[in-house]
Amino acid sequence: MSRRSSTERSAEEDAALLSGRPTNKQAERGKWDGWVKLGLGVWAMAATAGIVVIAVLWVNNGSGLNSKFPPEGKRNIVFMVSDGMGPTSLALTRSYRQFSDSLPWNHTLTLDKHFIGTSRTRSSSSLVTDSAAGATAFSCGMKSYNGAISVLPDGSPCGTVLEAAKKAGYMTGLVVTTRITDATPACFSAHVNLRGEEDRIAEQQIGDYPLGRMVDLMLGGGRCHFLPNTADGSCRDDSRDLVSEAQKRFGFSYVDDRKSFDGLKKGAVKLPLLGLFAPTDIPYDIDRKDEDYPSLEEMTEVALKALEIATKNSDKGFFLMIEGSRIDHAGHGNDPAAQVHEVLAYDRAFKRVSDWIAGSRYPGVVVSTSDHETGGLAAARQLHEEYPEYLWYPEVLANASSSSEYLAAQYARYEGPADQEEDYIRDTILIKGLGIYDASDDEIEAIKDHKDDVASAWVLADVISRRAQVGWTTHGHSGVDVNIYGSTGTSKLKGNHENTEVGEFLRDYLQVDVDAITKELKGVNRVDAPGLDKAGYEWMGRPLSELKEAGFETDKLDCYHGQFRHKH
Ligand SMILES: *[C@@H]1O[C@H](CO)[C@@H](O)[C@H](O)[C@H]1NC(C)=O
Ligand SMILES: *[C@@H]1O[C@H](CO)[C@@H](O)[C@H](O)[C@H]1NC(C)=O
Ligand SMILES: [Zn+2]
Repeated sequence: MSRRSSTERSAEEDAALLSGRPTNKQAERGKWDGWVKLGLGVWAMAATAGIVVIAVLWVNNGSGLNSKFPPEGKRNIVFMVSDGMGPTSLALTRSYRQFSDSLPWNHTLTLDKHFIGTSRTRSSSSLVTDSAAGATAFSCGMKSYNGAISVLPDGSPCGTVLEAAKKAGYMTGLVVTTRITDATPACFSAHVNLRGEEDRIAEQQIGDYPLGRMVDLMLGGGRCHFLPNTADGSCRDDSRDLVSEAQKRFGFSYVDDRKSFDGLKKGAVKLPLLGLFAPTDIPYDIDRKDEDYPSLEEMTEVALKALEIATKNSDKGFFLMIEGSRIDHAGHGNDPAAQVHEVLAYDRAFKRVSDWIAGSRYPGVVVSTSDHETGGLAAARQLHEEYPEYLWYPEVLANASSSSEYLAAQYARYEGPADQEEDYIRDTILIKGLGIYDASDDEIEAIKDHKDDVASAWVLADVISRRAQVGWTTHGHSGVDVNIYGSTGTSKLKGNHENTEVGEFLRDYLQVDVDAITKELKGVNRVDAPGLDKAGYEWMGRPLSELKEAGFETDKLDCYHGQFRHKH
């Protein structure tokens, strides 16, 4: 393998998986007790009455921060997921941007201006979640196990906010920069027992499952899971042509390149729409060429416009999920230069959404959070035994013009003379690619040693991270709380929350019945399966019992209710 693609990484994650509020009421009550004890009860009641009158006037005025939740009538919600973005990613990106754009020290990102709280991310099977369990918490509002795509630890499907929204008359959309079949978008639009079942996920996403077509717009990568295995660029196990099925059976219009995407920008959008712009991932923003691929912001713009037009004559708005998918990949790759560009691209998309919501004639909110942190990123790194200096160097990241993933793939293709290979590494990969002029012989040797293997990009990422004095603790995820950002109207998410409460917020805002979807799904095609499952769902693909036989550890899928101490 010349290149460490995210498909490989997902396969690795699968392999790893296969083996192994407080309410304000309390505070308010306390306050009341104090007032009463001070003998000010009457005054308090009078004051409260006054406040209530003012509040009612304020709410009726429609402009108050305490406006009714959820607002009445037609409304829209955009839920944004910054996959793998922890608090340090923000600090790193903010400082990087101040350096690269010569901005003052107090200049912040658009996200910073919308910070409201933090989310606890653990799954039902581990203190460190994966994206599947993380997104299931958002989509179903329930904890599940690492690897679960909107299914619960007992192997039964849980209805998602997207499905409930669609059934209630909202339009629905998914916009991502990785495969549309990857865990985060999958959790809103499919139900399978393990995230690697991407062929099955693609089938469900176009509408081939008990609920029928639930998604009106999908933009992103992952074309390979929609093409028959007889076609070039397919990664399906079977010969189903889902692009053709999407068009003929489910009425989708289909676009797959920059040119046809530009047609959408001009307004030629016919829903339902399937837009798959890359075989797997859309390139990192640092590597992406505008003439070849749309940016996350551009896809966001098209999605907002298309859904706005499609709901023009409806009394219901839309639910749109937008994911900055590859912030996570840069974290897995421990590549700080790629990551700051991914976060900046996400911040631009967030600004696009919040501006759109502020300018819409209907009420709407944007909520942005991460499913987990990736990489254990640190904005400092001790390189030697001596007491460290207090600093890190954004200028090192500013010198890089490509991701380490891109450069590793470029180097893997080197076929020049062997005696010029070290010069090639020094001049083309390190100087031209990373802006690093002082590589040591040991570093050149390490890069050579790993040519064409999976760690090749990691070696390059380490060369740049060390110089920037940026630290990483893992190539996987970490268990730190992640930030929640929101527009006006999201104050319920202030403070520290469980990730499932973010999911509850989404359904509460739309006032849709997710439980009814769960009930419907549970009733469909239920077959008795031998072994572990009490019930199997044929339409969901491989049941847990079969996955168990394949080596997926199913004993500890549900061990978080405090019992995990006893169990392990
Ligand atoms: C940043 O600081 C400068 C100087 O103290 C001040 O004039 C400016 O308003 C500040 N900007 C922001 C965005 O706070
Ligand atoms: C960045 O690149 C410039 C040349 O463009 C070089 O002079 C400088 O040393 C590099 N900075 C770092 C921190 O590597
Ligand atoms: Zn994730």
